[in-house]
Amino acid sequence: MSEQSSFKRTLVTTALPYANGPVHLGHLAGVYLPADIYVRFKRLKGEDILHVGGSDEHGVPITLTAEKEGVSPQVVVDRYHEQNFKAFEKCNISFDHYGRTSSPVHHKTAQEFFSDIEKTGVLVKKTEKHFFDEKAGHFLSDRYVTGTCPVCGNPDANGDQCEKCGTYLSATELIDPKSKVSGEVPVLKDTLHWYFPLGKFQQRLESYIDSHAKTWRQNVVNYSQTWLKQGLSDRAITRDLSWGIKVPLESEEARDKVLYVWFDAVLGYISSTKEWAALKGDYERWKTYWQSPDTRLIHFIGKDNVVFHTLMFPAILMAKNDATSEGYILAENVPSSEFMNFEGKKFSKSRNYAVYLGEFLETFPADTLRYTIAINYPENRDTDFSWKDFQNRTNGELADTLGNFVKRAVDFTNSKFQGEVPAECSDEDWKALGEEWHTNYQRYESAIEAFHIRDTAIAAMDFARFANRYLTESEPWKVLKTNPDQAAKTIAVCLNLCYTLAMAFFPVIPDTSRKILIMLGIGDRIPDEATPGINRWQKAFKPRLAKGHKLSGHSEILFKKIEDKDLEPELKKIEAMLAANAQTEAEQPSAKFEALKPNISFEDFSKVDLRVATVLECEAVPKTNKLLKLVLQLGPEKRQVLAGIAEFYKPDTLVGKNVVLVANLAPKKMRGLESQGMILAVEGNNGELNIVEPTGKNINGNIVR
Ligand code: 2FM
Ligand code: ZN
Repeated sequence: MSEQSSFKRTLVTTALPYANGPVHLGHLAGVYLPADIYVRFKRLKGEDILHVGGSDEHGVPITLTAEKEGVSPQVVVDRYHEQNFKAFEKCNISFDHYGRTSSPVHHKTAQEFFSDIEKTGVLVKKTEKHFFDEKAGHFLSDRYVTGTCPVCGNPDANGDQCEKCGTYLSATELIDPKSKVSGEVPVLKDTLHWYFPLGKFQQRLESYIDSHAKTWRQNVVNYSQTWLKQGLSDRAITRDLSWGIKVPLESEEARDKVLYVWFDAVLGYISSTKEWAALKGDYERWKTYWQSPDTRLIHFIGKDNVVFHTLMFPAILMAKNDATSEGYILAENVPSSEFMNFEGKKFSKSRNYAVYLGEFLETFPADTLRYTIAINYPENRDTDFSWKDFQNRTNGELADTLGNFVKRAVDFTNSKFQGEVPAECSDEDWKALGEEWHTNYQRYESAIEAFHIRDTAIAAMDFARFANRYLTESEPWKVLKTNPDQAAKTIAVCLNLCYTLAMAFFPVIPDTSRKILIMLGIGDRIPDEATPGINRWQKAFKPRLAKGHKLSGHSEILFKKIEDKDLEPELKKIEAMLAANAQTEAEQPSAKFEALKPNISFEDFSKVDLRVATVLECEAVPKTNKLLKLVLQLGPEKRQVLAGIAEFYKPDTLVGKNVVLVANLAPKKMRGLESQGMILAVEGNNGELNIVEPTGKNINGNIVR
């Protein structure tokens, strides 16, 4: 399948990570790996594609880290820019350019955007009350203030966003605000800032989001539309900080003000492209990517960055276009991921509960990580990285399926056919592989073109499963004795399958693909850069190795199996992290806040009859490990209820307890038993269920309102 589109080139941007700490596997899973897989595939097809990224080096996250360490912000950003760039390199994330927002090109770009927009008179200057730390003697921007989230009650919410429920906040909305600098309660003091009138762009942004509502991921559309429905308001784009890009105005009132980090960060994509073009010796080329309607612009981001990319950045570009008629394009898609957790809990830089990319790659190879993460890509729901899963994927899928097939085919050729492709793999032979093999090609391509990264990795492994089965079932080692020509044919087909596998796996595990090609005697033939006009992907699905082609003679085990003992140090690290966090964890409220359901009328609510019931008997339901059967006393009646709580409660511990029963729920049969109602339980942070136990004396049968 080849996509027909009016686009001549693609520009991929990946969210610029704050250079205040090392990137972890959650970052890799949500943003950088999916982008890299997509970009590598497009390059394989010979398409014109550019991938730009870099470090976000301004804003409060940086200065807070610097203050905590007692060093200058420059020291912090230099350290983590370097560290993160190296980790990405080691993981084979193939940026065309990895810039940094402290670069002169970026400062100039961001200032030019501000000045051009400011000159049109569209910015609003306002004096408003902001938090001020009297002890420290300065204003407290964004995350300098901490307090309780008014939405979910998280006591550690930041002055810009609550990490727990994702709500964007302004510091003044926090309950019990405190300064992170001095720990004091801040006071409100007047300060002047420049505001971007997002509301003026409301209609244009609505049309923009509507025009993509059918193709973008639901979460991206929902987040954006929720904001639009609430009505967009002015957003301050300057801050009282000493670290950042100076507001480019001569006036006294602009002194000591810097641009808001989110205003400058998104422009980092443009600066990074400019730097790339300059390094290529063709500076003006950046405009081809940013100012041509035939460029497809794609932003890979995590879900906490959605509105900055679907509303704020487009509005900034619209304002710039209004000011200068430069014709900046807007994103064609914003593949935003959900989160990847680590062993059932949220990755957390601040609580140091993470596996950092650089450290991981000191022990395990990039490809095993890339595959495991790709197959667990958090596209529409949060997923989990666990060491056990990593071990199973590596051993069972990469080693036993892909690695085993390639090695068997190559070793057999080397030992029985003098290291040469022993027969022709004709178009007929290729066709005879059948529908499963051939339809998988389309499945793979459709998945990757639509950013379904997990489906892409599954399709790649399905090729390997097919090939492994083909070799096993054809049994050339037996057939060789009776029909050497047929055995030769089987091996010729298998070697060509190896070639296809190398290409199909290239976007996901490029190091392995190259190793396969070397074993096949084709050399390291897949460049990181696209070769214009050469569609290697198309060629990958035709027999490529002719009779007589010499393999390199080299054969290697592609994946070393992971033993339990290899994981022991990692599991110990988790124990240590958890122990260090135990205290804080216990004090944390729920780690997730799911989107609320639409309103219902009071009338609808009052149809639900909630009652206090008492557990008389309780036993496990045979042949399931989830269900308990409870007999409840409900006023004068007895009820039998089945509840999926067997993993969390021993039956006899429930007897005598009061529970809340949905008493008028239509009866339902489960495992041949009737359940006459449902008991209420609270879902814990790790999926465990805790039944709701009402308090009060002699309340059996009473209504719960
Ligand atoms: O959330 C973050 O880590 C931000 N530094 C992402 C910025 S994305 C873009 F604007 F550069
Ligand atoms: Zn919250």
